[in-house]
Amino acid sequence: MTDAPAPQSQIANRQSPIANPQSQIANRKSPIPTVLGIAGSSRRDGNTDRLLHEALRGAADAGADTELYAIRGHKLIPCAACDRCISTGRCVMKDDMQDVYPKLLGTTHLLFASPIYFTAVSTYAKMLIDRCQCFWNLKYVARKPLFDPPRPGRRGLLLSVCGSDRPWMFDGARRTLKALCDVLELEYAGDHCYINVDTKDDILDHPTALAEAYEAGRTLVQPG
Ligand SMILES: Cc1cc2nc3c(=O)[nH]c(=O)nc-3n(C[C@H](O)[C@H](O)[C@H](O)COP(=O)(O)O)c2cc1C
Repeated sequence: MTDAPAPQSQIANRQSPIANPQSQIANRKSPIPTVLGIAGSSRRDGNTDRLLHEALRGAADAGADTELYAIRGHKLIPCAACDRCISTGRCVMKDDMQDVYPKLLGTTHLLFASPIYFTAVSTYAKMLIDRCQCFWNLKYVARKPLFDPPRPGRRGLLLSVCGSDRPWMFDGARRTLKALCDVLELEYAGDHCYINVDTKDDILDHPTALAEAYEAGRTLVQPG
């Protein structure tokens, strides 16, 4: 896995109506599904990275084009709540998020991996999610479509771990991911969350997690 951006990304090159209003490419039906994997941990090659890697491997084995985007390797700043995105759906802030927007809109499926930090998704993950406020404003304030025509069949899945033995730790992250999926018009396809996973390689000792992540990635891209 690399933290470096992929300049030739097949996902990024699938333009969305917002990324390029003149583009018709987003409206074409591609036979090949794409899976964008977002790595939200501060820790490289940690537990959620490993889950994500397995899920992306499963998706790739099922025939999808896959791409990993590790937020920690990039410059992202928090949403300024300036509301300048209303009506255009475009964020005016100039940082690496401008590369992420076309990926989020262009992908058919999203694998979102984040550890639990203080009962929530990580700071990196939340920063990226908050920056999708431009799509929320477009849809729910300006009342304009994100995709025209709509693009059904896109799905999003959460992968998470926490150090403690309390399953409710994931409640907030699930709600946050459901909200992100709603705004990106992805069907929430569920989650794979694991308790008692704390030090860096703990997930390697889990009896089922990596195999389940692989299978989740494989299943995510199956039609229907
Ligand atoms: C800043 C921080 C906050 C954390 N908060 C929680 C928490 O609220 N509940 C919990 O069960 N684990 C918490 N953890 C433990 C992580 O969820 C755990 O170490 C996890 O394995 C990290 O995943 P990663 O290897 O993908 O980074 C926290 C860890 C850090 C660094």
